Amino acid sequence: MLGLKLPTDPRWVNIVEKNIEDILTDHAYCEQKAASTAISLIVSFPEYTKLVTEMTALVKEEISHFKMVHDRILAKGWVLGRDRKDDYVIQLLKFFPKGGSRTTQLVHRLLYAALIEARSCERFRLLSEELEDKELAEFYRKLMVSEANHYTMFLGFARQYGDRNEVDQKWQNLLDYEASIMKNLGKNETIHG
Ligand SMILES: [Fe+2]
Ligand SMILES: [Fe+2]
Repeated sequence: MLGLKLPTDPRWVNIVEKNIEDILTDHAYCEQKAASTAISLIVSFPEYTKLVTEMTALVKEEISHFKMVHDRILAKGWVLGRDRKDDYVIQLLKFFPKGGSRTTQLVHRLLYAALIEARSCERFRLLSEELEDKELAEFYRKLMVSEANHYTMFLGFARQYGDRNEVDQKWQNLLDYEASIMKNLGKNETIHG
């Protein structure tokens, strides 16, 4: 349903389970970045009214996810650590050439966002199915549903604002590229690592 071409090796969950503090820290920043991305789309594309409306709602939802993760960190007696770079996202964002028309740039940003939501959703699903800590597994199950909706929304906007066939082709190419990045990942206690 997510279109991803390479599933994550479930053994990634074993790595995560050994370091819950690191995964929660990384996860908190994923939510913060999702909120920041939504704000940035509003600033860059204010004339796309439907997009601005949906992004306004999304900022709230993503920052509420950030709060949920942050509260969990505090409940464990920890303090939120510093953000670290997300190699997956850095590599992913190299795929589309820079520049092009405004519409092209919008479509590229929407497709990147859709893919990051899709992969996050896949990772959350795996956590919800495989984590020994059933309470934490349930937490990830609920978030998985939210991120799946975001994936659908971003892909829908890309198809609405761009040329449908061109967008679908770009999406397939991006999925292939993402699978090639994922081959070398699945070894770290980060959401996309
Ligand atoms: Fe989220
Ligand atoms: Fe999201």
